[in-house]
Formats: sequence, C-alpha cells, structure tokens
Amino acid sequence: MGRYIPDQIIDEIAARADIVDVVQSYVPGLQHAGSRWKACCPFHQEKTPSFIVNPDSNTFHCFGCGKGGNVFTFVMMIENLQFPDAAQLLARKYNVIIPEPEHRHSGKKNKEAAEAAYNLRERVFLLHEKLAAWYRANLVNGRAAKAAEYFKTRRMDPVFAERFMIGAAPDLWDGMIQWAKREGFTIEEMKEARLVSESRQTPGKFFDFFRNRLIFPIWNEQGRVVGFSARQIDPDQGGGKYVNSSESVIFKKSRILYGLNFARQEIAKKGFAVICEGQMDVIAMHSAGCANAVAAQGTAFGNEQAMILHRYTENITLALDSDSAGLNAILKDAAILLPLGFTLKIARFPGGKDPDELLKNAGAEAVRKAIEDAEDFFAFLLAKESEGKDLAQPAVKTGIAEKLLKFIMLPESEVARDSYIQWLAGKLGLGADAMLAEVRRISAKEARRNRFQDEARNRRESAQESSSPASPLPESVANPLLARALAELLEVILGDAEAADFTKEELPPEMLDNGPFAVAVETVIQARMNDEWEDAPAMITRRLLECEFDCSPLSAILAAGPRKHSRSYCAKTARDCLKRIRILSLEKQLRELKKNFASTPRGTERNELLKKTVELTRALNALNHPRLREPTTTGKRYLLPDETALRDTAEPD
Ligand code: UTP
Ligand code: MN
Repeated sequence: MGRYIPDQIIDEIAARADIVDVVQSYVPGLQHAGSRWKACCPFHQEKTPSFIVNPDSNTFHCFGCGKGGNVFTFVMMIENLQFPDAAQLLARKYNVIIPEPEHRHSGKKNKEAAEAAYNLRERVFLLHEKLAAWYRANLVNGRAAKAAEYFKTRRMDPVFAERFMIGAAPDLWDGMIQWAKREGFTIEEMKEARLVSESRQTPGKFFDFFRNRLIFPIWNEQGRVVGFSARQIDPDQGGGKYVNSSESVIFKKSRILYGLNFARQEIAKKGFAVICEGQMDVIAMHSAGCANAVAAQGTAFGNEQAMILHRYTENITLALDSDSAGLNAILKDAAILLPLGFTLKIARFPGGKDPDELLKNAGAEAVRKAIEDAEDFFAFLLAKESEGKDLAQPAVKTGIAEKLLKFIMLPESEVARDSYIQWLAGKLGLGADAMLAEVRRISAKEARRNRFQDEARNRRESAQESSSPASPLPESVANPLLARALAELLEVILGDAEAADFTKEELPPEMLDNGPFAVAVETVIQARMNDEWEDAPAMITRRLLECEFDCSPLSAILAAGPRKHSRSYCAKTARDCLKRIRILSLEKQLRELKKNFASTPRGTERNELLKKTVELTRALNALNHPRLREPTTTGKRYLLPDETALRDTAEPD
C-alpha cells in the first residue's frame, strides 16, 4: 500500500477508532477515573499512574514523561510505526477501506475500481492467512507424513515451530486447490495470489505452486501473511532447495524482512537488529533468545530493507554463514548499510556454518554468546585482510589500508570516517597524514579504474575532457544550478515511475557527467529501462562506491527514502527540473559555439556556426519562461547574435 492516504479516510479512521479501546488493547490496566481513563504509562517506567486518556478529545497525555497525542500518535509510538502504517493498522482494525493510491483522484467509476482492487487484495490476504493455518495443520495432523518426518530431523523447538507456523504442502498436484475451493476461493483469486501454476500442455488446467515441501509463511511488518517459502524435504526433489512465492499484489520481496513482525519490539528494545541469511537461522536465533533477528527474503539484502530497519535502529549485527559466500554477502551488505549511517558488527559461528547449525551443535548459550561477541565490522575486515600476511612490509600495509579505506569512506558522517581513519592508522602504524594522503590517492584511483564501462559514459567523458581539460570538476558538481536541478529531479524520479520515463525522453544526455547526482539520475533511468526501477536506490548506493566526489548530499536523499508526492507534483517538478537542465545545456553549447566562432575563419563553416548560434538562442528564449525559479536565469533574455558583434571577438583574418 502506498504512503498516501486521503484526508477523508484519515478522518474516518479517527472517528471510528475509539482511543480508550485502542489504548486498552495495549495497556490492559487502563482504569476509569471520572470522565477520563488512567494507567501507568506504557512509554516510561512508573509506579503511580500519570498516563491519562481523554475520550472526549480522543487524546492521551502522560504527566510523567510528557508524551501525548491522538490515536494515530499512540499507535505510532507503541508499535514503532510511521504514520501511514499506523493508519493502516487502525483502518484494518476498524474496517475502514483505504483506496489504492493509483485511484485516489477518482471519479465514481474509479472509486468502484479501487474498491474492487481493494477487495481482491483483501481476498488474497485472507487466502494466505487461511492457507498458512491449513499448511500448519497438515504438518501437525500427519497429513504430510514425509514432510513431518523430515521436519523432525530439523529439531526445531515446538514453541517456535508454532509461533513461526511451520507447515507442510502435501505431496499432491492439487491438494491446495481442492482445499481453497472448499473454502470458497476462486481460481482467479488463487492466480492473483500466485499460488497456482497453469499447465503448459493444457491451458486452463491448474496445479499447486507448492507441493511436497516444508512451508514457512512470510509475514509483512504488520504481521499479515503475504507469501511462503518452501523447503524441499528430499534433496533429489526438483526445483531447488527453497522455492519462494512470486511477487503479488501483497508481496514485494525487496520490502520484506522475514521475522520483522516478531522482532520489531525487541529490536527497538535491544537497540540493534540481527540480520541472518535464512528462515531457519531467524527461528534458531529467536529460539535462543535473540528475538531481534530478521532475514532478507531469498534475495540479497537491499536498500529498501535497510530503510525499513532504519526506522527501528541504526545498529546491525550481521549473522551470516561463515563460508566464502557469507563473506561476500558481508561486504555487499556493508556497502549498502554503511552509507546509510548504520554501525555494523559481524557475528561468527565457529561451531557451525550458520546460527541454525550452531544452535543444534552447541546450544542456545553459544548462539547468544556469538551475538554478544560480535566484532566491529572494520576490526573484522582488518583481521580478514591481515590473515597470513606480513604486516612489516610497507606494501602489505598500504594494500590493507586501501582495502579498508574503501569501506571507511562510506559512512556519511565525517566524524565516523575520521575516527576510523585514526583507528586504522594506529593499527597499521601509519601516520594519520599518510592515511589521508592514501585516502585521496585511492579514491581517485578507484574512480579511474571503475569509471564508465559503457559507451555512453565513454562518449560523455571524452566530450568533457575536450571541453574543459583544465577543470577537474564535472559540471554537475561545479555548477550549483545543475547540481540542484539534478538533485530535485532525482528525488521525484526515485518515487514516481512516470516521471522517470519522462526524464528518459527529455533529459539532454550531454548534461550527465560523472558527478554523483548525474550518475544517480542515469542509474534510475537505466534501472527503469531494465525494469529494475524498484532496485534503483540499491544500485545507486553501489555506484556511490565508485564515485570520487563528495556523495553526502546524495546519501542524504537516499537515506530519506522515496517521498510520496502526488503524481501531478512529480510531473510538474520533473518538467521544471528538465527545463532548467535544458537551459543550462543550451547555455553551455552557446558558450562553446562562441568560443569556436572566434577561432573560425570567415566562410561557410563560420556561417554554419552563426546559424547554429541563432537557433540555440531562439531555443533558449523560448524556454526561458518567467516562472522559472532559478535567479540567474529568470527572465533573462538572450540577445540574438549580431554578426558584427561576434566578428569583433574573432581573430583577424
Ligand atoms: P541457505 O542455503 O543458507 O539456507 O539459504 P539455510 O537456512 O542454511 O537452509 P537449511 O538450513 O539448509 O534448510 C539461505 C536462505 O536463502 C534463501 C532462503 O530464504 C534461505 O533461507 N534460498 C536459499 C532461496 O530462496 N532459494 C534457495 O534455493 C536457497
Ligand atoms: Mn541452515
């Protein structure tokens, strides 16, 4: 569900959600006291109640800690949710329908369509919820003997098997379909839920998507089942070790963290989150008393998941497999998490390859200890890089410094970067000055090495080098007008696919250089063309690694997450930014033309240049609408060149 909820819906929720009722569901001790209600405050420790709920104004206030607000604020604080999610939670509880955002500027017909879509979505949710219970019953009631037998070998604590609702899909072609039909679900609904596959030989014939597998339901942040992950119970079985639900109207992989619904409060309480590789590891962690553990769902950890976690904590402990794939995953995750301001620790599992094995082999205490003993990421990396090397050799030292600095440069906070540079200097016995020189050298070198594989970039680079060989800074960095236009553009195209499409058509490509904002905008456009638009923020973060310029303003935009603006705002902003960029582009071309004009002898070539200059000037004036916001271009009129004036600047024949 999008972030935008119409005002009348908010009002509707506020009207239906009685604050006493809501608070009481979280604070059972709420007592009537005159016209108000009283309890010990759920937000701070106290022995005598100073937390007051006032049903007349639908508000609460704590005289002890000063927290107060309305029913939405209460849910946001107690559930650690942002406003739209809190509103959504209340809407569900009080049966208010939030229309789909695409249809929100709606007439009657659109409203009906929105309601139909909403209802279908709710049916898909319901199907998932009931199906999770059915799968669970299959495992418990012996209707899936082979799965039950395999499950026994996993030795999972029954309390946690129940909490995580481990189930089984029967060894049948259409066991689920038959069950769902009996429950009143249609094939259309099952298709929408991505729970059936259609036969290729006999179109119109369907079979179960999950067959003969152990089932792990996947919940969203609010605790609704949105998909399943299914493990094979026999290694010879086709289809891979785990099969996961495809994305659907309710399931978006990049936004799901497995276990977050169970871990949310614990993450906030403990002040850090543990990220594991798989479902079994999350369950092992929770069983061992580390209920702040989550896992990325079947895919690598990405930017969106990082931003979700960022709402709860800035501290992450990675509890990934201790194999080489695990090490690569650590480096990849660090590249995503460090720029977003997370502090990172690495847990190791010497008694097994992952938390699940460690729990089985060495018990809960060992798992807890592995998390407690987790090592700072940079210390971990230094140890890894130093393994078996002779640190007395200067070249070895600089080699290690180079490897680490690539990561030390990632955090946005200069303080953090500096303190790690100091630390590393101390560890390697290098002076801080030498380290800083190294920082400059490697960032330039990195940038050179990684720069521009594709043709477009090569073209751009040569254009740049020829046009301004003396200037070390690309225009998108050196020119604040261009930087700002690109930054504003980036913000809308990250949140609005149509604006991204429009930008792809309208952006003058010569204005995309290797400055951070230009690279980011180009990445979004490319991602959009490759149908990977949703992954653009993660791709940008990765490409920031190669960027030799200051990326902190860009990291700030990424860290803020996509802001949900209205379609029309996005379209208008994109148009406005693109216009400003086109003006800057024309101005630049004009400058270059004038320079060339000066050095071109009279003749056809020079006439051509003059004609071009006139065209560009006309184009500029046509674009230069007074509504433009930039002070230096607002209302400015470009004088059409008169040949005599230009000739004055020209060299004598
Ligand atoms: P692992 O292969 O490390 O799984 O994959 P695991 O947790 O150790 O599994 P067990 O203990 O052998 O059962 C980690 C995660 O990657 C995803 C799953 O989410 C899994 O939990 N995965 C793995 C897939 O999506 N597909 C696969 O084929 C394999
Ligand atoms: Mn495992």
